Amino acid sequence: MSIVFLNNEFMPMEEAKISPMDRGFLFGDGIYEVVPSYDGKLVGFGPHVARMQEGLSLIDIKLNWSTQQWRDVVEQLIEKNGAGNLGIYLHVSRGTDSKRYHAYPENVTPTVYAFTFEIPQAAVADKTKAKKYSVNSNTDLRWKRCHIKSTALLGNVMHFQQGHSAGCNETILFNDNDELTEASSCNAYIVKDGIIATPPLDHQILPGITRLILLDILAKDGSLTVEERIVTRKEVESADEIWLTSSSKEIAPVTILDGKPVGSGEIGDVWLAAQSLYSLGKYNY
Ligand code: PDD
Repeated sequence: MSIVFLNNEFMPMEEAKISPMDRGFLFGDGIYEVVPSYDGKLVGFGPHVARMQEGLSLIDIKLNWSTQQWRDVVEQLIEKNGAGNLGIYLHVSRGTDSKRYHAYPENVTPTVYAFTFEIPQAAVADKTKAKKYSVNSNTDLRWKRCHIKSTALLGNVMHFQQGHSAGCNETILFNDNDELTEASSCNAYIVKDGIIATPPLDHQILPGITRLILLDILAKDGSLTVEERIVTRKEVESADEIWLTSSSKEIAPVTILDGKPVGSGEIGDVWLAAQSLYSLGKYNY
């Protein structure tokens, strides 16, 4: 049975209850995180908590938890849920009000919820074992604050569903200028002639922690070139490789875009090099 954490208590998931007047429920008024953990070892815990604290401050939710407080909760959750390959979901909503009124209420206590869910085992840098992803593409119709990891995810959910309904694993998104933003739940990259390119951080994309770790590992290693720059639809369509990254997928090689093969249609050598480096370095973050 899954054990969750709700407002300072651990309990079976079935017993976790919140008010229907919670602003997370009524408005999607909250911030969340997903942190991966393999056999009890967390990846990127510090950066994940820092991003959540930044998100909470951007939407003016006051919750003064230290990184150590989060770590205590997360480590207990991992232990209580079997310490396998787990995603740890952390969620802070503004809290429960007595009425439905848009303005931020004074004096409400944030609702803190956390649970674990199983994720695939850590990616293996092996072309014969890696999962191949297929994606379709769409115009990015989400809001202009995609850098905030808000629990209000309907825009992302609708884009993910477009891919899902088309039998794809994800949907990659382009802004009105036909520039790549990201995918509905992942950051996106292309490789052309051995050079990796990914859109720069701005309001159009989430500052992914897998992206942060990957770019840092690649910069320190120095054998692969990474450009953070605008990537056009044309470049995506003629890329040798396309990748997605997220906490539960690590580096996901995309071999089909809109029903057509990406490059050779096989997983690429640059993916192999990058995933090998990521697998070796990721626990240092
Ligand atoms: N998704 N972009 C979007 C829109 C995302 O939702 C995510 C993560 C990412 C990758 O971020 P990170 O590397 O920090 O996981 C990029 C999470 C896992 C989710 O919603 O389940």
